[in-house]
Order: sequence, then structure tokens, then C-alpha cells
Amino acid sequence: MLVSGASFRTIWMSDESTIRIIDQRRLPWHFELIDLRTVAELAGAIKDMAVRGAGLIGATAGYGMALAAREAQTMTELEALANQLIQTRPTAVNLSWAVNRQLQAMRAAEFARRVQVSLTEAENIANEDADACAEIGKHGLEIIRRIAKLKAGQMINILTHCNAGWLAFVDHGSATAPIYAAHAAGIPVHVWVDETRPRNQGARLTAWELREQGIPHTVIADNTGGHLMQHGLVDLVITGADRVTRSGDVANKIGTYLKALAAHDNQVPFYVALPSSTFDGSLRDGIRGIPIEQRDASEVTHLEGLTEAGDLATVRVVSEGSSAVNYGFDVTPARLITGLITERGVCNADESAITTLHPEI
Ligand code: MRU
Repeated sequence: MLVSGASFRTIWMSDESTIRIIDQRRLPWHFELIDLRTVAELAGAIKDMAVRGAGLIGATAGYGMALAAREAQTMTELEALANQLIQTRPTAVNLSWAVNRQLQAMRAAEFARRVQVSLTEAENIANEDADACAEIGKHGLEIIRRIAKLKAGQMINILTHCNAGWLAFVDHGSATAPIYAAHAAGIPVHVWVDETRPRNQGARLTAWELREQGIPHTVIADNTGGHLMQHGLVDLVITGADRVTRSGDVANKIGTYLKALAAHDNQVPFYVALPSSTFDGSLRDGIRGIPIEQRDASEVTHLEGLTEAGDLATVRVVSEGSSAVNYGFDVTPARLITGLITERGVCNADESAITTLHPEI
């Protein structure tokens, strides 16, 4: 997608032993690229959220396994590095999916060929992620077209939570792909962007990428969505997902569940967009089964932003002596979801529909 008019992906190989990423900790204030040359550096980038978002975490782990193939002298060493990558973040299943796909590819080849095999596989994982998001855009566009017909040319208001945009994938995004496709097709769309405390991925990342693509949008405090829905100001909700069970329960950024409840109460369609690499076919009950990441409480007690003088600063927003807890994700039960948009089409959030479209999960 575009950054100051130039086309970028979120991750690429700058040479056979260097992975280049956009440092998302610096956005929206600074656009900086960093190079990752070792598994330790790459694992640190995932853990510290220089890269984040389910699809991008998966693609990064895919490239991480290519670095691991260079570092490991035996299969046991390779498996230990794979484990190090899997431990970085627990909720987005794309991470273990990509690592296991790489291990399978390398196990099927002679050990001496591991570097070449893993490089090819890493590129395949990244390209497939970008292609899947482009397809999600096409399928989601049909949903927006139907609403556009009913609204006869009026603005379509879409609410999204967190960042499931191109920054969360290799390109296009999941939740944002239908929005970009609708804008390109000349359908008037406006996006309500949940700020998404505590890390503010909505305010910092989604707003920035929408602005760069020229999409009308408005950032709202996290608790605003219900009010907007009660007043007919939201036509559609589209969120991303970090892990979806075979029965259609969706883990996504903390606060998603509350938006789904409000949408259900106000008969606003609530769609979840995901590439099929985000399904976890081993689970049915998302609330009991999906591991929910807990991050440092300082992300709740402190906020980062620009001072009037233009310096990046962190301020405390909770008084000393109060404790804080930081759950990164919640689970939205399938019954609250209108449909899932994947690269293969749109389906109901239930086991029969999901496994008909995705029999391999
Ligand atoms: O903690 P993050 O930023 O990695 O969280 C991921 C997200 O941005 C959201 O949960 C998103 O909707 C799913 S990732 C496509």
C-alpha cells in the first residue's frame, strides 16, 4: 500500500540473510525501516511489537525460520529456534502455523538444502498472505455493494477496531481490504476508527494508513461505538481476527466483544475478516481454549505521544499506587458474528459453513 505515495509491503528480504521491516513502534510519527539478521533480533521484533498483527506475525515468523535455517547446524537446533519464535506471542495462531509449515517443508527436504527451502517457503507465506488479503477485499466489497444499493449513494459508515489493516499483514489488510476495494470502486465510505487502548493501534496505525490511502475516517474513543450504533451512524462493523475456532468463535483485540454485543443489540451487521491461516481447527470453544496474551501493565498506566514541541514522550495516566492489568485480546462468540470473510468467500460463523469452505482445518 501507499506511504507518501510510494508502494510498500510491511516486510521483505533485502538480501538472503536480512529481513527488512517497518518499525511500527515509531508510527505514525516516524516512518523507519529496520533490518533483522538473527533469530534473536527477529523474535525480539515480534515480542516488542515492532511487527504486529496476525498475518504479519505469521509472515515474520516464516522469514525467522529462514534465518533459523542458517543458524542451526542440526535439526534439534532448528527445532529449538522454532520454539523460541513460537514463544514470542501466544494468541495469533498464524505464528505457530507459519513456523510449523516451515518445519514441515524443511523436514521433507535434505537437511543440507534447508536454507534454500526455507527462503522459498518464507516468500510463499508472505506472498500468499498478500494474495489472501486481496481476495478478502473482493469478497468484502460485495457486502459493501449491497449496503450501498440500499443507501442509494449515501456515505457508508464502517466501524473497525484495532489495526487489521495492511500494517497487520504483508499488504492490503483483512478488515481494511474491503474498504480499500470499495473506495477504489467509487463507493463513498467513511471509517469510524476505535482508538484501541491500551496500545492505540487504531489511533496510531489504522488512522495513519487510512489517511495515507485517502480514505475518509474519524478516530473515536473506544466506548463510542455503541452510541453511534444507537443513532444509525454505523452501517457495518468489520474487524480482524487473531485466532478463529472451527465453530467460529473469534479472538481479536481486547474490546472487540463489546462492539459485537452493541452491534447485535442494534442489528448492525458484524463481520470478521481473516485469511484461512487464522483458523485453529483444533479448537471449538474459543473462550475456554484460546490463550489470551497478558502484556505489561505499563501499557495501561502510561501513554506515548508527541508533545507540542514535536518530541516523542511517555506520560503516566494512572496514579502511582493503583494496580493495572493488561489483557491483550478477548473472544467474541460465534453467535454474535454475521459472517466471516476469507479469501475463499463469505461464510456463516459455524462449524458446518467453516469446514465446508475450509475442509483442511
Ligand atoms: O496486538 P496486536 O497489535 O498484534 O493485535 C492484533 C491486532 O491488530 C488485532 O487484534 C487485529 O484485529 C487482528 S490482526 C489482523
